[in-house]
Amino acid sequence: MLEIEDLKVHFPIREKWQKATVKAVNGVSLSIATGDSLGLVGESGSGKSTIGRAILRLNKVTGGDIRLKGMSVVNAGRTEEEMLRRQAQIVFQDPHSALNPRMPILRSVAEPLVLHTKVRGVELRRRVTDLLEIVGLQSQFLYRYPHELSGGQKQRVCIARALALQPELLVLDEPTSALDVSVQAQILEFLKKLQREQNLTYLFISHNLAVIRYICNRTAVMYLGQIVEEGATEQVFSAPRHPYTKVLLEAVPLPEAGQSRRTDVVIGDVPSPVNMPTGCSFHTRCAEAMAGRCDKVAPPPVALADGRRVRCHLFAD
Ligand SMILES: Nc1ncnc2c1ncn2[C@@H]1O[C@H](COP(=O)(O)OP(=O)(O)O)[C@@H](O)[C@H]1O
Ligand code: SF4
Ligand SMILES: [Mg+2]
Repeated sequence: MLEIEDLKVHFPIREKWQKATVKAVNGVSLSIATGDSLGLVGESGSGKSTIGRAILRLNKVTGGDIRLKGMSVVNAGRTEEEMLRRQAQIVFQDPHSALNPRMPILRSVAEPLVLHTKVRGVELRRRVTDLLEIVGLQSQFLYRYPHELSGGQKQRVCIARALALQPELLVLDEPTSALDVSVQAQILEFLKKLQREQNLTYLFISHNLAVIRYICNRTAVMYLGQIVEEGATEQVFSAPRHPYTKVLLEAVPLPEAGQSRRTDVVIGDVPSPVNMPTGCSFHTRCAEAMAGRCDKVAPPPVALADGRRVRCHLFAD
């Protein structure tokens, strides 16, 4: 479904009056098979959202390629753009700002159909009613306004709108992080069911390890613009190999029922993506760093016998 090859997204910025470059995504290769759910996890600022946005062409790509069902997202022409728009959609963290407060739900959900199809009138209303039904909202919501809905209901509306053009890939960028804890579990359960029933492929972005473990069959761990470990979720969680994945999983106590492990626990300082460390970008925080090697040479990704990929010198030989 999705292939990302050596993706680079760099942002030019000014820092202390000097020109500088934020290397938000710095050489990411990933693929997601149809029907899979890949979790992208990592601390805030590691480049997760930038990847999600690049897939939807919301960020300019500096290098590499992204292909959706074989079609390049980076070099898409006009007709390809229209096809890509149908194939992939994104759901953002904050449903409050994603919905126009002055539009009734009917119009918000109908918007992509109005912009990109010829469906109108009674048929349009029927389609929106069907979409609301898929996300578990009754037709009485059609004429309600966002402020009359709870956070969870608003996020369901955003998901309905994302489904309007029948995409095959959904990028979910922290879709439950802005919701009350009590609603989070409901929405997660719903997303899991939705994927099965609609035969969707997910790229699920979250800083919350428990959420990724619940939803995703594959997991990719990001650190400073790179994937440091990627593999089957159960492998990565039960026997992490990369020193950073280990730290993430050890940093917080085992979750009690209803609690979640979070990656936003501070483990030393995260270096700036403007002044990247030399060699392995994790060497400034790594307990297993080898002097003279890790601080000088960037480790290439290594495929392990169990099918996962790890970017670390410990596995190079
Ligand atoms: N438009 C932009 N201009 C400059 N820097 C940006 C821009 N978008 C993101 N960044 C920077 O890129 C890095 C990665 O950001 P992001 O992808 O949002 O991380 P995450 O989603 O993992 O928290 C951060 O340092 C962020 O400040
Ligand atoms: S390459 Fe070296 S510094 Fe980087 S994670 Fe592996 S051991 Fe640690
Ligand atoms: Mg983000």
